[in-house]
Amino acid sequence: MDKLNKVDVLKEVTDGIAHKIRNPLGIMSTAVQFCIAHPEKKDKVRNHLENIRKCIKDIENTLKYIGNFCRPLQLNLKPLPVKKLLDNLYFAVEDRCRLQEIRLIEKYRNISYRIMFDQDYLEEAFLNFIINSLEAMPDGGSLTLESDIDSNKKEIIVKFIDTGTGILDRHIDEIFAPFFTTKANQLGLGLCIAQRIINVHKGRIEVNSGMGKGTMVSVYLPMLNPGDKDV
Ligand SMILES: Nc1ncnc2c1ncn2[C@@H]1O[C@H](COP(=O)(O)OP(=O)(O)O)[C@@H](O)[C@H]1O
Ligand SMILES: [Mg+2]
Repeated sequence: MDKLNKVDVLKEVTDGIAHKIRNPLGIMSTAVQFCIAHPEKKDKVRNHLENIRKCIKDIENTLKYIGNFCRPLQLNLKPLPVKKLLDNLYFAVEDRCRLQEIRLIEKYRNISYRIMFDQDYLEEAFLNFIINSLEAMPDGGSLTLESDIDSNKKEIIVKFIDTGTGILDRHIDEIFAPFFTTKANQLGLGLCIAQRIINVHKGRIEVNSGMGKGTMVSVYLPMLNPGDKDV
């Protein structure tokens, strides 16, 4: 990354943090002013204090996320079956899908390949894609977990296909940027973290989306050599 690029990224990150912290600080400031001016209005003071507590929690969560985000990734690579990883995720989200009336479709049973990956990190990355899909289908739909092999390129492909809201064309290039979000109470770090995880596995991500049709996130992972390690 050249110097200019670093400054751009730093600006993006600091703007994001400032934005995430400014909101709760504003709410707390108003609440404190009220409590000082009207200590006798006990019910309202209690409400304001409750709001202050929520804001502190918000800021704590933001800082916790940023702390994790800045830590270097220490990969613990093991030769594991991709199917096992997808099974774990399938079981983890099955109940939530049922509650949200989302049909969870598995199309990865035929894949018995093992590749080198860090189970915890890859699970986190995949879960971020899945959660985004579930959040894009508040009124139900379907989520397909699919897997395929490109034996020529020695790659395995994992796809997350939803029938959700889709992504606006003008947002497609921004969705991996830190703190980019179109949601009211989210941080916008999910895809950025997922991309970082896929990058250290020497993989890549493709996103295809159509407004009102849905989104397909494809993750291409090389079959790594056991000696490969990265930061
Ligand atoms: N499957 C999806 N369907 C629709 N929009 C998506 C999907 N995945 C990502 N997005 C868009 O990308 C943005 C960034 O995603 P992400 O980094 O996970 O942040 P967050 O989920 O916290 O908003 C989301 O706010 C949303 O606008
Ligand atoms: Mg997300």
